[in-house]
Amino acid sequence: MSNVRHFLSVTDLAPSELREVIARGRALKAGEPSGALAGKSIAILFEKPSLRTKLSFEVGISRLGGHPIYFSPEEVGLGKREPVQDVARVMSRMADAAVIRTFDHNIIEEFSAAATIPVINALTDGEHPCQTLADLQTIEESKGSLKGVRVAYIGDGNNVAISLALGMASTGGHLTIASPPGYVLPEKTASDVVPLNAASGGSLKLITDPVEAVSGADIVYTDVWTSMGQEEERRARLEAFKGYQVNPELLDNAPAGVCFMHDLPAHPGEEISDGLLIDPRSIAFDQAENRLHSQAGLLHYMFTQG
Ligand code: NVA
Repeated sequence: MSNVRHFLSVTDLAPSELREVIARGRALKAGEPSGALAGKSIAILFEKPSLRTKLSFEVGISRLGGHPIYFSPEEVGLGKREPVQDVARVMSRMADAAVIRTFDHNIIEEFSAAATIPVINALTDGEHPCQTLADLQTIEESKGSLKGVRVAYIGDGNNVAISLALGMASTGGHLTIASPPGYVLPEKTASDVVPLNAASGGSLKLITDPVEAVSGADIVYTDVWTSMGQEEERRARLEAFKGYQVNPELLDNAPAGVCFMHDLPAHPGEEISDGLLIDPRSIAFDQAENRLHSQAGLLHYMFTQG
């Protein structure tokens, strides 16, 4: 049993470490040179499509002096062509870390239990912690602070919402999530954030009304209504999420200075109106760019701490 540290959930970093990772991301973005990954090979194994995550990990690893090796969904057959634990054991013999995107969160748990190298969650059905690193960096850059910031998340209580709730509770933000009945944040996450909020001074409110959620918000955030792997639910979801679109009219209910965020890819006409990503209030492309910097901050931290 190895005691190597993984990043499968936002809560795998203590709140102080989360702030440190974001600070490192910001320093690297500002041009601080680093060869923290010199001589290191990082395996990247994705079972779902990706633009930002693949690009940001490959560029980030290269900039830190490391060597990324990408495996597409067809190549490895995680748990099909070869047992999950055997893939983890083989990667552990040759690579210095593994970045995994898969379906059920249990798969990455099983992978990391057999791995003797750090494993990073690049999205599962349960969490998207690397997205949260970029989200927190973007919020801090645009609003000056994470503590006390008011974020309204409109839509599905999915992987992105779960990680965001954990991240904001760790850093003292106030999060209101407006979701239709049946698509709310899981009860487990709502209870996991309680001690984090108690320690940080943050809060979480779960409601159904998007207008109520955005009034008073510094940031309005949304994600797709149908996540990868849920395609067969699309029709039911389009029906359930009617009235939850983020558009200029909804943003007009928020205070002046509100910023709009989306983890992308977006589906204009569904969770956002056409053109919202280039509305003057949108910081979605800064957020996308910060995937690069915040993940570099994470890798830097994982390979240089202690
Ligand atoms: N919730 C979305 C996020 C995509 C980056 C999904 O899992 O498909």
